[in-house]
Amino acid sequence: MTYAAVRSERNDSLLAWFATNSRDLPWRRDTDPYPVLVSEVMLHQTQVGRVIGKFEEFLACWPTVEDLARAPTEELLGVWSGLGYNNRALRLRDAARSIASDGWPDSIEGLRGLPGVGPYTAAALRSISFGDDVAAIDTNLRRVLSRWAGEPLSGSALESYAYEAIGSPAGDWNQALMDLGSQLCTPKDPACDACPVSEWCLDPAVYEPPRRQPRFQGSHRELRGAVLRAHLAGYDLFEAGRALGRSEDEIERAVRALHTEGLITTSRPPQRADRT
Ligand code: ADE
Repeated sequence: MTYAAVRSERNDSLLAWFATNSRDLPWRRDTDPYPVLVSEVMLHQTQVGRVIGKFEEFLACWPTVEDLARAPTEELLGVWSGLGYNNRALRLRDAARSIASDGWPDSIEGLRGLPGVGPYTAAALRSISFGDDVAAIDTNLRRVLSRWAGEPLSGSALESYAYEAIGSPAGDWNQALMDLGSQLCTPKDPACDACPVSEWCLDPAVYEPPRRQPRFQGSHRELRGAVLRAHLAGYDLFEAGRALGRSEDEIERAVRALHTEGLITTSRPPQRADRT
């Protein structure tokens, strides 16, 4: 059998499986680029289950890219709260401002010029919303494709493999692999019996353990989150930091950084004695 025939049978089977088994996720209800961008930015560092409700709340507050471009910082961060990595929200608004004034870039490279849009997000958008045949390679795709290939793939070998294997429409193909990777082709104990493409898979045991997540408790990220939540709620920022057992210097550094990055929007960084 030629590789073209394998690819065609495997993709037919994969896409038929996706047509009846795709997860019903709110950002899949249409292919408008704005909700797709919002969802992809949220999903980049946060799990699907935590994104669903926030995505709906976000779209209810800012239904269009023009609405988001005008969103006040505190409201934006209030809605984002709980997703973590709050700078993403400000970058997303910067991207919305650029799109609202200049329109949607018409290429991957153009999308990558938007704040907060990396190669994965640009490829997801181009494939899902604009119909381009590009692979959006996240950790699920990497694992599934490595198993198809029978060896751990990364870098340019992974990209070349994806471009050889890609099916059409690529937006469905990418999302089918995301679903396959999260539902059946899981890191441990893949459900090969239920897998629509197991007959074309060279080695389902291929698995690279994920890089260890840095500890959250005691981290700078934990402190930043607590300080920002206190700011949004009008509580004492320093008390929020002290409640985590942090030193005054550490809290002050976090407050200054959040202020410099535009997450705390007061004319000067709050001081120890201030209340916000
Ligand atoms: N993770 C990132 N993008 C996704 C999408 N479009 N659907 C499901 N999970 C995802």
